[in-house]
Parts: sequence; structure tokens; C-alpha cells
Amino acid sequence: MPPFTFTYGPRVRSGPGASADLASLLPNGPVLFVTDRGVRRLGLAHAALAGLAEPVVFDAVEADPSRATLETCVAAGREAGARSIVGFGGGSPMDVAKLAAYLLGSGDDLDGLWGVGKATGARLPLVLVPTTAGTGSEATPVTIISDAGEKRGVSSPALVADWALLDASLTLGLPRHVTAATGIDAMVHAIEAYTSAKLKNPLSDALAREALRLLVANVRTACDEPGNAGAREAMLLGAHLAGVAFANAPVAAVHALAYPLGGRFGVPHGLSNALMLEQVLEHNMAAAAPLYAELGPILDPSVAGQGSQARARALVEGLRAIGEACGVPRTLREVGVRAEHLDDLAADAMKQERLLVNNPREVTLVDARRMYAAAL
Ligand SMILES: NC(=O)c1ccc[n+]([C@@H]2O[C@H](COP(=O)([O-])OP(=O)(O)OC[C@H]3O[C@@H](n4cnc5c(N)ncnc54)[C@H](O)[C@@H]3O)[C@@H](O)[C@H]2O)c1
Ligand SMILES: [Fe+2]
Repeated sequence: MPPFTFTYGPRVRSGPGASADLASLLPNGPVLFVTDRGVRRLGLAHAALAGLAEPVVFDAVEADPSRATLETCVAAGREAGARSIVGFGGGSPMDVAKLAAYLLGSGDDLDGLWGVGKATGARLPLVLVPTTAGTGSEATPVTIISDAGEKRGVSSPALVADWALLDASLTLGLPRHVTAATGIDAMVHAIEAYTSAKLKNPLSDALAREALRLLVANVRTACDEPGNAGAREAMLLGAHLAGVAFANAPVAAVHALAYPLGGRFGVPHGLSNALMLEQVLEHNMAAAAPLYAELGPILDPSVAGQGSQARARALVEGLRAIGEACGVPRTLREVGVRAEHLDDLAADAMKQERLLVNNPREVTLVDARRMYAAAL
């Protein structure tokens, strides 16, 4: 076995009502509570807010948040004299909360932080509460921010939260299309961690396999019966395990080709991953087929005794069937992309070097354009 390094991530508390006792996890003083208006309108944060003595709510986070939103959030925290931060919602509020906690705690300038390992200062105490079963952001050292039409990342151990609180009851109201798209995002995290070119390791492999098993076995039920607590618990745990996996064995070309769809066309993160998934898996097949063959039986147990080609195909076909069953859009055309956009998308994807270096097979500009064209 090759040598490896692994970090487990935040401490975890799981169960119904896990977020009702935030005060015991945070220092005294004002708490900047970062969420979004949709989550707030649904009343999901009531119990969490009721348990805090001095919450200062910042609920202006949009899906796939912008640099301006992050900066407004940091200013709100500074004005309130925040001593700690809570991120409550999907990946968007959690990501803003993570980087705001770092910027407020360290006083660093944002422009020195983009990329891997640049944020080396200290952040404010941070608790994250996911309300989607997708990004795994509550487990990862990554924040993604839209900056001038480009999705940029800060990845550093300093961004890993102190606590992740997993309460699947918060996800019971997730609409079908969000359940499906965020669930596929989590599956992509598991698959890309399992095939990550440089930092793949036995611990992230074990987590990725179990994450994929939980997600695949429960995504249809979560879509068809939104109130099914068991399916929601399995999805949230699966998304979390996938997060811990890719925090150690980072994601690759599916994400690199998905981000330009978010940056240029505002396509939600999970959906943009779903739209590029099949093309990237086909491209990677030449290098990653043996690993895909290990995952295929999770999608279709009936191929377990078959040859590696059939098992690898089962991964691709099983994922396509999940997308179809859950009603996920299939083509880039459906989200507004046209042939004249393909060159710009491909050029943008090549800027995601942080991710492309993890891909099991090289992706050139020509490859990227071909994959976008095939997904059109
Ligand atoms: N940090 C990481 O490691 C990481 C990984 C993957 C993606 N991301 C980022 O996360 C963001 C996407 O996060 P997301 O997919 O969780 O979506 P999101 O946070 O943008 O939320 C999507 C929508 O779902 C709504 N919503 C959230 N919880 C709900 C609930 N329980 N019931 C009903 N509606 C609910 C929100 O109000 C919002 O309108 C992107 O910016 C992406 O780049 C980060
Ligand atoms: Fe993702």
C-alpha cells in the first residue's frame, strides 16, 4: 500500500434536533448566523436561532454565491463584533460562512487565498448545518465563490469547521429537482474521490464506496417520497461521507467542466455536474475503467460476477438511469447553452487547473470542447 495522509474533518453530531443546542458548541458573544432567504422562509432555522443568545442573521446568500455577497457578509460580521459563525443551509450559505469565518478571524486579504493551501491563519469558531444532501461542504476544506463570472475556490485545512451537525429532518422539504441534483453532486464527489489521480487512498476509498451505496440506494425514494425520513437520513449521511472522502482525495474533471456552466449560465452546481457527468466518465473510461468496474456493482448488483467492461458500463448506465428516473435535465440546450458558447466554456474549464490535475486522464482544450459539444 502506498503511503498516504488522511484528515477525518470536523466533529460530528447527528440526529433530529441536532442544531437546537448550538450555544453549547460556541463561545459567548455575538454569533453571525449565515443562511439564505429560502431556508429562512421555510422556518428551518427557528430551533437553531432560538437556542442562541445573540444571533446576528445574514440571510442574503444566493445560490452559487458571489464575491460581493461574501464581502457583505464579512462586513456584517465585523460590524456585529461576531465571536463565532454558523453556516446553515445548502453549500451556498455554508461556503460563505466558512470563508467569512476565516477572513474575520485572520484579517487576511481574499485575493491572496485563491487555490490550495494559501489560507494559513486562524478563523473564528465555526459550526456548519447542511440542509441539502449534496455538497458535503460541512466536511470539506473548500469554499467556492463566483467572481466575475468565474467559479473560484479556496481550499485549506483552516476552513474545516469545528462541528458538522447532521439533522436529516431539515431536508424533508427539499423539492424533487433539488434532491436529485444535489444527490448527484454527492455521487460525483464519491466517484471523483475514488478515481482521484494523486491523493486516492484506502480511507477515502472506503468512505466513497459507502457514500455511493447510500446515495444510489436512496435517491429515488427521496425524490418520490420526500417525507421518507430513512431515505433522507441515508442521503445526508452519504453526502457527508462523500464530503470527507473528497476532502482528502479531491474532485476532478466533472467539477472542472461543471463550474463554467454555473459561472456563465447560472446553472445550479448539482445540475451542472449531472449534465457533464456522462461525457467525462466516457472520456475517463480509457484510464479509469478498472476503478469504474469496482463501483459498477453498487449501481447494478447483477453485474457483480461479470467482466470488468460490463461492470464499468454499469456505473455509467446506472447513473444515467437515476438521472432519468428523477427527472434531471439531460442536455446543455435545456439550460440555455448554444453551439456558439462551446469555445468559451472549454476555455473556462481549462482554468480549473486545481481540479484537472486530479483527473485520472488528461483533459485538453480539444477534449473539453468535444465533451461540451457531446452534452449539448
Ligand atoms: N465547499 C464545498 O466543498 C463544495 C462542494 C460542492 C459544491 N459547493 C458549492 O455549493 C453550492 C451549491 O450548494 P447546494 O447544492 O447545497 O445548493 P444551495 O445552497 O445553493 O441551495 C439551493 C436552493 O435550495 C434551497 N434549500 C436549501 N435547503 C433547503 C431545504 N431543506 N428545503 C427546501 N429548500 C432548500 C435554498 O434556499 C436554495 O434556493 C455551490 O456554490 C457550489 O459551488 C461547495
Ligand atoms: Fe460538487
